[in-house]
Amino acid sequence: MTTIDRYGVMGYPVSHSRSPVIHRLFALQTQQDIQYELLQVAPDKLETAVRQFQRTGGKGLNITVPHKSAVAKLCDQLSERAATAGAVNTLSFRDGSIHGDNTDGIGLLRDLAINQGVLLEGANILILGAGGATRGIVGPLLEMQPASLRIANRTIDKAEILAKHFSRSGPVSACRFNVVPVTEKYDLIINATSAGVKGEVPPYPAAAISPETFCYDLSYGLQPTPFSVWAREHGAKKSIMGWGMLVEQAAESFNIWRNIRPDTAPVLKQMKITA
Ligand code: ATR
Repeated sequence: MTTIDRYGVMGYPVSHSRSPVIHRLFALQTQQDIQYELLQVAPDKLETAVRQFQRTGGKGLNITVPHKSAVAKLCDQLSERAATAGAVNTLSFRDGSIHGDNTDGIGLLRDLAINQGVLLEGANILILGAGGATRGIVGPLLEMQPASLRIANRTIDKAEILAKHFSRSGPVSACRFNVVPVTEKYDLIINATSAGVKGEVPPYPAAAISPETFCYDLSYGLQPTPFSVWAREHGAKKSIMGWGMLVEQAAESFNIWRNIRPDTAPVLKQMKITA
């Protein structure tokens, strides 16, 4: 008897997740016979749910908010990038053990560099927010050798801890959210706060934006996010939401599981139409 390989996304809440649609489109495109489920799991049930998925023959899981840090502790092996980020978004179950990886950073890089043509080498980058999302992207961004990377956060301590953590990897510094130094022009501003998701509009640093600035919101939605609206209103060169990162990180996960890299362009196009 042949069984279909099982995958899924675990989060809380998770009903809004686009991952099932994306992975089904990838499977169709690459002619892979897989099943992909939505799994809503409360934080106190995470370990039980992951182990049950493994025990019943599941092959891999995407892990989303709020479990990305907690799930790292359940892994038998972590990729270097997951260990650096302290967060996991992709689990693979192989030979009775749990492998954890993080494809968020590479997903963002691919969207910025390949899909959007943003030059990261030598760029001045500003990241707003210093939570889990920021932790996942700072390492990969620094690998692209920007001229500077500044992390601005409402709670300065968290920005400083992150800047210190990554200080060996490149020119990273921290500042307060509402006092962003604007002595140099920012080529790229990334919103990694969860403010928009919570319906809050913090005082984004207007002086940091110029007609040369590319603005990227890690959040995405059917309607423009508050940050993407703000960026457009303040004259950014371009202002986009994180749909591309979502599809690119999914393609990296799919590649880890199935050893075949889907073409993201048609899926991204379809997502935007059907979203
Ligand atoms: P995630 O995993 O999505 O990054 P998180 O770890 O809870 O979520 O981090 C949320 C980030 O958004 C934090 O940087 C948070 O700032 P604080 O560290 O000061 O809490 C930021 N954030 C959330 N709401 C915000 C708001 N209204 N104004 C400014 N920053 C906000």
